[in-house]
Amino acid sequence: MSDRDALESVQGSKPPSPTVGYSGTSVVTPKTKPEWSRRNFIKGVIASGVTVSGAVYFGPVLSRPEPLSAQGVERLITLRVNGQTRRVDVLPGETLAMTLRYKLGLTGTKLGCDRAECGACTVLIGEVNHYSCTILTHRIRDREVTTVEGLEGSSGELHPVQQAFIDELSPQCGFCTPGQVMSAVALLKSNPKPTRDEARIALAGNLCRCGAYDHYLNGVMRAAEETANA
Ligand code: FES
Ligand code: FES
Repeated sequence: MSDRDALESVQGSKPPSPTVGYSGTSVVTPKTKPEWSRRNFIKGVIASGVTVSGAVYFGPVLSRPEPLSAQGVERLITLRVNGQTRRVDVLPGETLAMTLRYKLGLTGTKLGCDRAECGACTVLIGEVNHYSCTILTHRIRDREVTTVEGLEGSSGELHPVQQAFIDELSPQCGFCTPGQVMSAVALLKSNPKPTRDEARIALAGNLCRCGAYDHYLNGVMRAAEETANA
């Protein structure tokens, strides 16, 4: 083997050696030998890795039915969402955002980054805002979850934060709005009269690609004022 052939074989651009089943123009596969090679092994690892990661991501939506107790976790569970009791079949690694959107049809909860960076998926668990894309649904079985759909009043009226965001023309494209609303609601529950800086800090985990931050802050301050005067 020339030096060039040796280099190409370790880089994987050519079969390992012309003396092992390579005839110059076509690969000769010995019938009695299994087709193990470094290249096939690496191809197998890559292929299986892609399959597994894809299955994890799309699992809640696309996977076939599995036994109810897959991986030792009971899949059919009861959740408390927006004041209702919901029975839902949840995969062991399924996130709350996926359950809300694709199992319960609560698509007001948006998925932006799906990795705890943007805040589009913010919901309340109890009275605290959380990123639902990074919480496993199985971990919140006994907790009360509130999504943006759950803020509606008994007569169908908007939550004061929602109304204030409309009055202040806070959203532009609106994609981040449900998350901004939920963080603002959580803030006003714990601090009904925030300063503007406190509101800014409270909404810091909600990114807005339209850059409408000041408009959202105007909305939070208006909601606080109007709630205090109500
Ligand atoms: S989708 Fe959850 S933080 Fe971005
Ligand atoms: S209004 Fe468009 S991302 Fe915030």
